[in-house]
Parts: sequence; C-alpha cells; structure tokens
Amino acid sequence: MGVSIQPHGGTLINRVVEGAEREQLVSRAAGLYQLRINTWAISDLDLIGVGAFSPLTGFMGEEDYRSVVERMRLADGTVWSIPITLGVQEVQAAELKLGQEIALVGENDGIVYGILTLESIYKVDQKHEAVQVFKTGELAHPGVQKLFTKPSTYLGGPIQVLSRPKPEKFEEFYFDPVQTRRIFAEKGWRTVVGFQTRNPVHRAHEYIQKSAMEIVDGLFLNPLVGETKSDDIYADVRMKSYLVLLENYYPEDRVFLGVFPAAMRYAGPREAIFHAMVRKNYGCSHFIVGRDHAGVGDYYGTYEAQEIFSNFTAEELGITPLFFEHSFYCTKCGNMASSKTCPHPSSDHMHLSGTKVRALLRDGQCPPPQFTRPEVAEVLIEGMKEPEYQV
Ligand code: ADX
Repeated sequence: MGVSIQPHGGTLINRVVEGAEREQLVSRAAGLYQLRINTWAISDLDLIGVGAFSPLTGFMGEEDYRSVVERMRLADGTVWSIPITLGVQEVQAAELKLGQEIALVGENDGIVYGILTLESIYKVDQKHEAVQVFKTGELAHPGVQKLFTKPSTYLGGPIQVLSRPKPEKFEEFYFDPVQTRRIFAEKGWRTVVGFQTRNPVHRAHEYIQKSAMEIVDGLFLNPLVGETKSDDIYADVRMKSYLVLLENYYPEDRVFLGVFPAAMRYAGPREAIFHAMVRKNYGCSHFIVGRDHAGVGDYYGTYEAQEIFSNFTAEELGITPLFFEHSFYCTKCGNMASSKTCPHPSSDHMHLSGTKVRALLRDGQCPPPQFTRPEVAEVLIEGMKEPEYQV
C-alpha cells in the first residue's frame, strides 16, 4: 500500500454538500442575496470545496489576505502564496452585512454553485497586491491584467458547494483529491511526483518528468485546464496530445493523467509554491519545478521559482520540490541534457521559442523531433486547424 501524504494544514477539506442537506440548502439559497460569479470564481469555489486548496475553507478574509500578500502565509502561519479572493462591486458590498449568507450564482448559467457565509468585507489596494504577488504592476502582465478586472472590494468567509461545474470535454480525467489519493494508494505508489503544465508536453518536459520518474514510484501528469491566456494552446487540443504521448512513450502503469481545473495566474515563483501545495493535497510527495515555472515574458528570473522555496522549511512545505535546470537537446551529446550534464556550448543546443513552435504548427509544419514527438506535433497541427486558431 502507498503511504498517504498529509494534506496541507493536516486535514483534507470537504465543503461539498450532498443529499438531503444539499436539497435543503438549495431551497434556502433561493431566498438569499444572489451574487453572480464568473468562471474563475466558480473554479476557485469548487477547488476549495473538494479540498484541493486545503486548508482553505472559503474565500480569504482580510486577515488571511493581508498575511498572504505580505508574507506568503495565512494568518496562522501556514504557507500560502496566492490570494484566493472573491471580488464584489462596492455598491453590492454596501448592501451586505457580516454574518449573512450569500448565494453564489454562475453569471452565465444561473446555477447556484454555493453559499458563502460572510465573515469579512474589505477594500484592497490591487496595485500593491499586484506588486507583491506578481512582482509587477504592469498591465501587460496577464495575471495583473486579470486582477485589475476584478472589483477591489473582497468578500471572505467559509463556503459550501451545492453544484459542481460540469466539464465540457474529457470529463473522465477530472479527479478530486480524495480520488487521486485513493488511486495512488491502490497503485501502491509510495512516492508520486506531480507535474504542472499549461503547454503540450515537449521533449524538455518529457526529459525532466522521466528523470524524476527514475527516483519515484509514479508520475501524476496534472495539466492545468482552467482559464489561460489567449495565446496558450487550448486544453482540449493539449489533452489529445498528452494521450498520444503517453500511449507511445510512457509505461502505462507508472503514469496517471488527471487535470487541474484551476485558472493560471502566471505568478511565477509564488505560483510555484501554490502549485506545490495543491499537488500535495492531491497526494503527491514530490513536485517538479523547472525553468521559469508559471512564468510569462521576462517578469521572473529563470530559477526564481526554485529559489523561493528556500523561504520555507521542508516540514512547512510537506512536499519535496524537484528542481530541474533548463533542458534542451544537444546535437553533440545526441540526447536531452542540461548544463548539469552537457559540456558543449549553446551553439550545439537546440533552442526553439514557444512563439516559433506555435508558428510552425499553425503552418502545418512539425517542429524537429528533438523538440516535439512527431505524434504530438501531428495532434497539435490538427488541433490548430480549428476555427478558434484562425483569428
Ligand atoms: S507552467 O505551467 O509552468 O507555466 P510549462 O508547460 O511552461 O507550464 O512548464 C511546465 C514545467 O516544466 C514547469 O515546471 C517548467 O519550469 C518546466 N519546464 C518547461 N520547459 C522547460 C525546459 N526547457 N527545461 C526545464 N524545465 C522546463
């Protein structure tokens, strides 16, 4: 049997209400103040509900928020690096009272996703939040841009989930932490390495995953499929590419594919900590952090997302980060390598930017096999023929 990894904070949170209690709350919700929430907030709500964001039991109140922004810890000292907040227009906030229950309703579908018990109403300085969390206040940063679209008054308090968002596609790859934990245990995996990605798996990703697989029992390939920026490759195309890659190049009994339905923040180093804590909740003992993890543009140093881990003790983290250098294919070595294993100059290394790769794919051309497996390239080329990519 596998050894169970402690969830972050010690308890796997479950705020999903079912059965008769749910029925009762659904009817109660009809009489409550209705707050419309967007897809991002629904995704946060759901991830809190199933314990992926343990120890959070709801949207952050002022004390936790300020503590997270200033010192990457919840008010009680638990490591937490990204604010999980619910924005509300000031006029709406003025109508609300502490202690009140609020129905959280999907803005597009009218579904009551949950109930928030209001414990905190607070106004924030989003510029300050941006600089602390994203290390920049520039609107060109996609995370900052997203933050500024959110109202700057936040509501905090515990939630109860009444309805779960329904995946449009690939539903069979959605697993809650309680399920992944059980699956890893059933597989007898004592150590599991989590891999976050918002991209197709290229050879560099494969190389670091397989390097990690040499020392652990299993790989949890956990691509993020929530909101991403518009020029990232769509989740459904990526899913097809992961399946074809696994089928052709990975031992079936050593990899488990399940999606991470969270929004991408592009917060680089702080997001790496967040990603690691969440994967611990899914049952991982190890987590891969490579070059510029969760980064965008030139906002973060290549290894900043690794360095940030030194702010915390191994006990506080409770998951072992596995750091990897920038990896590439070396034409002289004739294999994948990094500066740790290859003596040759950069002119012998194959470098392709994400932009260049996307341009090739859009043109119907396969990137070199040393960069992307041909089976993966084919899926991506096919996927990018879809009308959404023709804009
Ligand atoms: S992201 O979610 O971290 O933004 P991305 O797909 O770019 O997704 O990267 C997934 C993981 O692979 C991250 O840990 C990243 O640091 C690592 N990574 C990506 N490319 C390389 C590379 N060439 N060398 C080493 N690590 C890499």
